[in-house]
Amino acid sequence: MMADLGYAATNDPASADMILLNTCSVRGGAEEKVYRRLANLRIYKRDGKKQIIAVGGCVAQQEGDELLRKLPYLDLVIGTHNLHLLPDMVRGAERGERRSETTFIDNEQRLDLFPSIKGESRLSRFVTIMQGCDNFCSYCIVPFVRGPEISRRSADILTEVRQLADDGVREVILLGQNVNSYGLKSENEPSFAGLIRKVAEVAGIDRIRFTTSHPKDMSDELIACFADIPKLSGQIHLPAQSGSDAVLKLMGRGYTRDSYLDKVSKLKSIRPDLVFTGDIIVGFPGETEPDFEQTLSLMEAVRYIDLFSFVYSPRPGTKAAELNDDLPKGQKMNRLDRLMELQRRHTREISQTYIGKRMSVLVEGEGKLPGQVSGKGDIGRIVNFIGDNSLIGTFVEVKITKAYPNSFLGEL
Ligand code: 5AD
Ligand code: SF4
Repeated sequence: MMADLGYAATNDPASADMILLNTCSVRGGAEEKVYRRLANLRIYKRDGKKQIIAVGGCVAQQEGDELLRKLPYLDLVIGTHNLHLLPDMVRGAERGERRSETTFIDNEQRLDLFPSIKGESRLSRFVTIMQGCDNFCSYCIVPFVRGPEISRRSADILTEVRQLADDGVREVILLGQNVNSYGLKSENEPSFAGLIRKVAEVAGIDRIRFTTSHPKDMSDELIACFADIPKLSGQIHLPAQSGSDAVLKLMGRGYTRDSYLDKVSKLKSIRPDLVFTGDIIVGFPGETEPDFEQTLSLMEAVRYIDLFSFVYSPRPGTKAAELNDDLPKGQKMNRLDRLMELQRRHTREISQTYIGKRMSVLVEGEGKLPGQVSGKGDIGRIVNFIGDNSLIGTFVEVKITKAYPNSFLGEL
């Protein structure tokens, strides 16, 4: 969109005509980072330079006009449903107009307004299939800053996927806050499992991933896809958030420890080499030591290859923010340390099991070292190996020779 306005990317923020911060407010830490960055950017403007400073994304959505009031050097605030206004807003800002737009658009029109993602051609691309979330997990700000859930029309998704395939893309990552509930609100659209089957029919697309999944909406129909769609990736992100029923209930997650583990074992029995990644929150208000131990034991039962773990962060306006968050900080950090320690062990042990095995790798570019190329294996991990640049863009079989914490070394 900025290219159409005559702008080009620069690596030098001091000389940039415009700086836009694309922001996240899912945890307090991410939000504070935005304010620190903004305070730094202000320095560029001190010498009277005409530079447009803009904030987009979830912090923009959450704070709106207030941001303009608080930060006199800020020019634009662009909410999560207002990206289509960017050209007009930038043209206004060039004439010195300050503006904030954060109106939610809760109808289908939103999908047509959302600009398609252009940019450099890559072999793996994200494809938005739905936006927003209706779940209101008690700790989560997403429904407030991204609005109600809305699914894109499957016909539009398939047109985009076919176009990407024509452009040389080999892997698509279907993207949404909760892809599993895709299409459930509409009578005319397929379920998420149905959508995957249609995407799998697109010639040229050879690998399909998706993120992120809500365990409560992980249907048997979707689980079955892992049995008979070889294009479906060998990794699934299935955030549990906690292993304790009491905490899950307070979080409003809509499933129990047992029903989560039941879905995991169904998936494992249907595709034994499937690897799991997940998200866990520690230190949720009222989490006791036995609750936390339930989380560790859930991790033992699932054995995630990678886990994103977070200390609970109260978010304004959420239900959990009203709960008594009186667990001492030291205790929360101690739990996070113990959890990460266990995860490091699991990551190490699971990674080691790949040594000597073959893996299908989509070669995406040059590797870290001279003579190496690099790509992603079926389980989503980076694999580096000695190989010619002509392999870029192809799927090859690689034998894994060494496992590092976040990547593999292999041999063609
Ligand atoms: N505090 C800590 N972690 C959170 N997440 C979402 N909201 C919060 C919060 N208030 C985590 C969840 C989610 C991931 C994207 O961020 O684990 O899955
Ligand atoms: Fe947030 Fe995910 Fe729950 Fe939606 S389903 S409220 S995005 S944690």
